[in-house]
This record gives sequence, structure tokens and C-alpha cells, in this order.
Amino acid sequence: MTSVPMDRPVRAAIAGLGRIYDLNVLAYRDNPDVEVVALVDPSDERRRMRQADWPDARLFTSVDELAASGLPVDAVEALLPIPLHCDEVVAMLGHGWHVNLQKPIANDLAEAARMRDAADAADRTLRVMENYLFYEPLQRLKDVIDSGELGAVSGYHLKMVASGLGGWDVPGDTYRWQFEQAGRGRGTLLFDDGWHKLSTALWLFGPVREVRAWVGSTEVMPGIAVDAPTTVVWEHANGVRGVWDITLAVDLYLRSDYYTNDERWEVTGRRGFARVNRCTARGIQEPSLEVYRDGELHSHHALDDDWASSFDASGRHWLRWLRTGEGPLWWGADEATEVLRLALAAYASSAAGGLGIDPAGLDAATPAGAAG
Ligand SMILES: NC(=O)c1ccc[n+]([C@@H]2O[C@H](COP(=O)([O-])OP(=O)(O)OC[C@H]3O[C@@H](n4cnc5c(N)ncnc54)[C@H](O)[C@@H]3O)[C@@H](O)[C@H]2O)c1
Repeated sequence: MTSVPMDRPVRAAIAGLGRIYDLNVLAYRDNPDVEVVALVDPSDERRRMRQADWPDARLFTSVDELAASGLPVDAVEALLPIPLHCDEVVAMLGHGWHVNLQKPIANDLAEAARMRDAADAADRTLRVMENYLFYEPLQRLKDVIDSGELGAVSGYHLKMVASGLGGWDVPGDTYRWQFEQAGRGRGTLLFDDGWHKLSTALWLFGPVREVRAWVGSTEVMPGIAVDAPTTVVWEHANGVRGVWDITLAVDLYLRSDYYTNDERWEVTGRRGFARVNRCTARGIQEPSLEVYRDGELHSHHALDDDWASSFDASGRHWLRWLRTGEGPLWWGADEATEVLRLALAAYASSAAGGLGIDPAGLDAATPAGAAG
């Protein structure tokens, strides 16, 4: 059992070698804070492929097999299908490993509570990574808001358009579990990708006291539906309101090195506004951050607005944290549970015809989609 801080490089296992491995792995490359000692995935093909990145790492088909091997491990980078998060993470923590988990933490509050309890019982850290908090244009947006230069914030708008053409390839088996998720009411746009927008809302403006939502559905193939059009509005405890629209544009081409998602954050204050024009894809190819005040628009041309850099920075932050124990985790399981509450409040509101729902009023026994 290793405690934080660690006086030597972190011995890390990477569990789940699929699509998002390509970005999460950036933080592990040329990083003296870490040594990748194990790769875990049931797929022979993926284990073989990723071994080329880490010739000295040992290969395992499952977390159980890794644990049984006795190989010393300090921390796991968990890049698993969402339905596996709870059981696999509870097992990892039980083996005495710290865990950096991809979002969403889990499908419901009961699972999230089990995972937090397992971390407490094992005295290990469960981090739920949120790469958007490391995306430089969003960090600068937060600086602009916090500096007060826009005046008091009057409200803000998040926009997300999922397009059907462009970007990188997503493996068929990834789609399979994502569509299973959608079938159980945890859609790709609101719950999976949308998780980041809800995170940024909490990060920028603090706790939310009321959520109203209208979750739509569009059949894209026989029997396969995507959760758009969807609109969610909320009010923070500080009185600031947010509006988020999710739109599906199946035949729209977007240039992207990653997923094809046209995203926008626009914050309006009493004196001006600030807008992040894009994130994952290259929708609006203007400067990624623009700030308007007193009749002048300031464009930020020199920000690192490659979405992949946010993964790199997030992962390095985690590994440094394990080495030093210093600074915030960005984010821990408690913050991730608040994001989950926000998503579940949106489902509960939509199921109740758009009723206002207080996320804090939801409890672990609340069935998915039911009002809290
Ligand atoms: N931060 C982001 O923007 C972002 C983007 C995409 C995905 N994600 C998240 O990353 C996670 C993984 O998504 P993905 O798109 O890479 O999925 P994926 O399906 O492409 O990859 C998952 C991998 O896990 C492997 N696997 C399955 N069961 C396993 C087990 N028991 N032990 C070890 N490996 C196992 C699969 O064989 C596959 O290689 C999800 O939580 C997803 O929501 C986050």
C-alpha cells in the first residue's frame, strides 16, 4: 500500500486500452513522475497494439489477473466502459490502488456512494478526471469571470451540436456499450459527453439549486436513438442562470481530430460578455476565446486550444499530485457526485414534464428518471 506523497515514480497500470486511451496516455509519455508497469484489457488485439507504447509493461486480461500476479501497482488509470465503472473501481480500491477514473463516475447515486465508501475504507484516492477544467480557453474564461471585468454575471449559455460526419473513428464495440447506456436512459449527449458541460457549470458558478429539462430523442438507426434535441436550464445558488441546448445534426461535417462536437460557452455580465468558441472540434475557427467590453472585442490568439492538451495537463496534474499530495485533485469523487446529481436532476425534471428539481433533494434510492 503506497501513500501520497510518493518519493519515487508512480507505478501505474492502465486498464481499458480503447478509444480514449490515445489521449489519456499523453500524460504518461516522457513523464518522470510515472512508470507504466501494466496494461489491462480483455482484447488481445488492443493489448498487442498498446504494448508497442510500453514494451516493459506486463499485459493482463483483467484487473483480477493483475491483482493475482502480485505485481506492485500504486495507481490505475481506469478507461473503462461506464457500466463497469462501479464494480471495477471498487475492486481496484480494494487492492489498495489509487484510481484516476474517466467520467462519468457512475450511472446512479447508489453506485457513486459505493465507490466513495470503497475509497474511504481502503484509504485510497478516487479521482474522477475532468479534462475540460484543464482546457486553456476555459481556464482563461474562468479568470475573466472571476476578475470581474465583465461586471456581475447576468447569465450564460452552453451550446453543443453533435454532428454525424468527420472526426476520428470510434470502434464498433464502443458504440455498443454507449447504445446500451442510451437504452437504460443514460444518453451519449446529455450523460456522457454532456457531463463535461455540467462540470464546467459547477466549476464556473458553484452549486445549482434548481434544474428544469426537456430531454428529447431522435432515432438515428432502427432501434437506436440519440438523446437530442435536449434543453436544460438551471439556477445556481448564487442566482446565476444557465441554459444549455443539445442539438443533433446528422449530416453536418465538422473538421476535428477527435469527436465531432461543436461546443460553445458564452457568459454575459452587466458590462460585457466572453465566449469560448470551440473545444473538441474545429467548428468556429476564430480565436478560441473572445472577450467583449466597452465596445471592444479582445481576441485571444495564443491559447493552447488543442482538446488533447487538456487530457495531457489533467493526467500530469494527477501524477504530480500523487508525488506531492499538493493542491486540489480536479476532481474528487465528491465533486463528480455533484455533477451526477445535476444530470440525474435533469432526467427527473424531464420525466416530470419540466418540473423544477433540486439536485440536492435526490437520494440514492431515487429510481432513474423519477422526480426527487
Ligand atoms: N473525457 C472525455 O472527453 C472522454 C471521451 C471519450 C470517452 N470518455 C470516457 O472514457 C471511458 C472509456 O471510453 P472509450 O471511448 O475509450 O471506450 P472504449 O470502448 O473505446 O474502450 C474501453 C476499453 O475497455 C476495455 N475493457 C472492457 N472491459 C474491461 C475490463 N473489465 N477490464 C479492462 N478493460 C476492459 C475494452 O476492451 C476497451 O478496449 C468511458 O468512461 C467514457 O465515458 C471520456
